Amino acid sequence: MKVTVVGAGYVGLVTGATLAERGHDVTCVDSDLPKVRMLEAGGVPIHEPGLPELLAGVRKSGRLGFGADVAAAAGGAEVVMMTVGTPTDPQGKADLSSVEAAARTIATGLRDYAVVVEKSTVPVRTGERVRRTMERNVRPGVEFDVASNPEFLREGTAVEDARKPSRIVLGVPNGRAEKVLRRLYEGFESPILVTNVETAEMIKHASNAFLATKISFVNAVSRLCEKSGANVEEVARGMGLDPRIGAQFLRAGVGYGGSCFAKDLEAFAEIASQLGYEFRLLREVQAVNREQRAHVVELLRQELWVLREKRVTLLGLAFKPDTDDVRDAPSLDVAQRLRAEGAIVRAHDPVAGAKAKAMLPDLDLAADPYAAADGADAVVLVTEWPAYKGLDFMRLRKVMRQPVIVDARNLWDPSAARAAGFHYRSIGRP
Ligand code: UDX
Repeated sequence: MKVTVVGAGYVGLVTGATLAERGHDVTCVDSDLPKVRMLEAGGVPIHEPGLPELLAGVRKSGRLGFGADVAAAAGGAEVVMMTVGTPTDPQGKADLSSVEAAARTIATGLRDYAVVVEKSTVPVRTGERVRRTMERNVRPGVEFDVASNPEFLREGTAVEDARKPSRIVLGVPNGRAEKVLRRLYEGFESPILVTNVETAEMIKHASNAFLATKISFVNAVSRLCEKSGANVEEVARGMGLDPRIGAQFLRAGVGYGGSCFAKDLEAFAEIASQLGYEFRLLREVQAVNREQRAHVVELLRQELWVLREKRVTLLGLAFKPDTDDVRDAPSLDVAQRLRAEGAIVRAHDPVAGAKAKAMLPDLDLAADPYAAADGADAVVLVTEWPAYKGLDFMRLRKVMRQPVIVDARNLWDPSAARAAGFHYRSIGRP
């Protein structure tokens, strides 16, 4: 099938490449010309495990092309996927201007019947707006349908998730659109759920909100553990063995970050409010998440007493391991909170240093964790990169001024850290 993907970000690029791998003819279009040139020249603009190999393979097959002209690429496509950004506007609503612009441009380019698919996370009822906008701009006689097919891929495992989605949700207005999308996903072994457009839109928001709720729930429990002598890891294990609860997304820590959860919760609460329902639970989930970042700084304060002029090393800047993404990363928040109290912050990350520096230009970056900790009064582990797991505590202790660790992801074994002479604090563990 001929497929056009509008927006060559994380979702667009990975989805487009995966569909090309399945034998479809895919064109990814993006308004960012330097990015398009880079992709055409064989470059990979993001750090995502497996993506360079996937792109290399499909480029060779000739089934993946790039471009900047949305209308031209939409003409002749059977499926047009919208994977443009939906950031949060100052009121907390999803800023849908890119979706609206894409809808208009796609409409002007369509020449034959096509299914236009919302793949970006959008508030419920956006499909309806897209359809109305397109109707005003499409050439006379050209038919189209608007569907919702949300993605659930996680950064760091996006390629794997796109190849084997946990489920394929097809939110369609009719059987004609359903048929087209079923053909698109022929050969995928995942369960397919067919719903109306609104339900599919809601599934995406509700899924992310629920995952974030799990994280905030366990973080709240971790605070209680700290006050009572219970161990949150064991509590989570004990809860997770109940299949109704499940073991995933119960890792206590510095809280969630990334481009999706905070933004989607905000937008979900906002659309709920617009529809006349105050989804207060979501506001509380967000509040617990913010408190968790502040709590890490509080643990540091408990150890160091005064933070002014203390040298604090942050290990890990990416919002989670295996990505260079620092959007809404807890690290940046913690760095700013520390600086506000007069601490001197230095950091290390295996890949996200440059992107973090773009957000905090005067961030002091070191080439490796030991150099980052040289002369430090404390180390805060913010992202649980596998490379940090086997850190040599003795070597670390030797280079530091004071032996203090705040492990904000419960990466290390407390007894090993203490045996090396560290004052060691983690989240919800005695
Ligand atoms: C998320 C959703 O998982 C995915 O389905 C959706 O398509 C996009 O948003 P992503 O943001 O890439 O994916 O990462 P995810 O693995 O979900 O982690 C989000 C944040 O939660 C990270 O900061 C992570 O460190 C944190 N997290 C996750 C926890 O603090 N504890 C956990 O138990 C799990």
